[in-house]
Amino acid sequence: MKRAIYPGSFDPVTKGHLDVIERSSRLVDELVVGVLNNSAKNALFSVGERVNMLEELTSHFSNVRVDAFDGLLVDYARRIDAAIIVRGLRAVTDFEYELQIAQTNHEIYADIETIFLTTRLEYAYLSSTIVKEVASYGGDISRFLPPQIIARVYAKYGITNAAQSSLQFRDLEK
Ligand code: PNS
Repeated sequence: MKRAIYPGSFDPVTKGHLDVIERSSRLVDELVVGVLNNSAKNALFSVGERVNMLEELTSHFSNVRVDAFDGLLVDYARRIDAAIIVRGLRAVTDFEYELQIAQTNHEIYADIETIFLTTRLEYAYLSSTIVKEVASYGGDISRFLPPQIIARVYAKYGITNAAQSSLQFRDLEK
């Protein structure tokens, strides 16, 4: 039984995350999407909301389940008997940070291996942080997020007329 964990903040889950979930779920028997419950980080969505959104979006994958964790990732991985950590690599800027974490995790828990999936080119620039920045000004986030998530993000910023704003955004592009 090959079980992997795909950890992250997922605040909120993007199309890039979903792509990594879909592709990595094909490589293992079970993929656990682990949502970091980090009280120190100023999250837009509560951990419960993030878990619910991920569950909604991954319910069609029979071998994917979603869970929240806190503390060290390797401790959680050991607890659920996951031998593989999956991370997405967008650009070279991710590399140094990811290498450092992967090597530290391996140092702490030698039985765990980190595998990296290169993100699809169309999502290479995408990050939850940037999406939140765009959304906070009412900009168009429809190309970055699964449709089910979009209104929930705008709602967090008290934006109800985002469709209007998005139209203006598209007009500017022409
Ligand atoms: O989506 P993110 O915010 O890039 O995910 C980062 C995450 C959750 C993978 C990382 O912060 C993490 O594993 N945190 C748990 C604490 C831990 O184990 N840190 C790494 C040891 S150096």
